[in-house]
Amino acid sequence: MAVTFTPLHPVIAAECSGVDIGRNLTADEAASIDAGMDRYAVLVFRRDVPLTGEQQIAFTKNFGELEPPYTQIQSTDGKRLANPALADISNLGPGDRLLERDDRKRLFGLGNQLWHSDSSYKIIPARYSLLCAHVIPPEGGNTEFADMRAAYDMLDAKTKAVIEDLVCEHSRIFSKGTLGFAFTEEEVRAFAPVRQRLVRTHRRTGRKSLYLSSHAGRIVGWPVPEANLLLRELTEHATQREFVYSHKWRAGDLVMWDNRTAMHRARRYEDEKYPRDLRRTTLTDGVPTVEQAGDGQGMAVGF
Ligand code: OGA
Ligand code: MN
Repeated sequence: MAVTFTPLHPVIAAECSGVDIGRNLTADEAASIDAGMDRYAVLVFRRDVPLTGEQQIAFTKNFGELEPPYTQIQSTDGKRLANPALADISNLGPGDRLLERDDRKRLFGLGNQLWHSDSSYKIIPARYSLLCAHVIPPEGGNTEFADMRAAYDMLDAKTKAVIEDLVCEHSRIFSKGTLGFAFTEEEVRAFAPVRQRLVRTHRRTGRKSLYLSSHAGRIVGWPVPEANLLLRELTEHATQREFVYSHKWRAGDLVMWDNRTAMHRARRYEDEKYPRDLRRTTLTDGVPTVEQAGDGQGMAVGF
């Protein structure tokens, strides 16, 4: 059966079918899915049963290299998932118990409800993220995706000229800090800001996109309040409903998105009452964005 894409929204996201993502893919299948990512930025794979951790990791590796594991804030009584390649996107602690209201892992995880691009706070940020749903609450907890290519295209020429070569500083201190999350001194040191271009050019499609994230809190060379105002204005523009697909999860779904061309956020749900268990694998993009040519020319292609 051929790999097929059924659009879920006018500009972003499609459901991908005709391929069993739980087994080894052929090179043609992987290339078709990659081409689907270039076109839709977000792909939804519906399955009755969630992939196992091993299957999810194997599927992810068809599209690049896994990100190295990094500092996550753990629940007071430790880690729930043993495999460091799987990020625990849940409101659960060890033994699958619901986290207490003031558990640091819960408070840190609430930051996912701010619009962001995964790992934009790392020098080499993420390419694709893949999120697999194991347990879903009866209500709420959708994930929304905003198309940063459409958002860029719809900017006026003057704004495009202003932002073309801007470089921002990103850190989890800015995103979670906005919510008032209390960092330790060690965390503040570990989360030093990194630089990212504000306008990116996709290596394969040549399309430009806004590289925004709630982790962005400075623009190099700009006074801080002015930088934050521009970032807020651009974020407001980029997250208008016409650019946003909202995914209502079913257990078993796997959603894969391109962090270079889409921002995302979780929506609120009753997390003290219902478990929500998703697991994420993430690919590194291989090169710092500040080293990527603004015009997309002369790039080493990291595939
Ligand atoms: C993530 C993330 C959103 C959600 O996994 O990177 O931001 O809805 N998840 O859980
Ligand atoms: Mn995320």
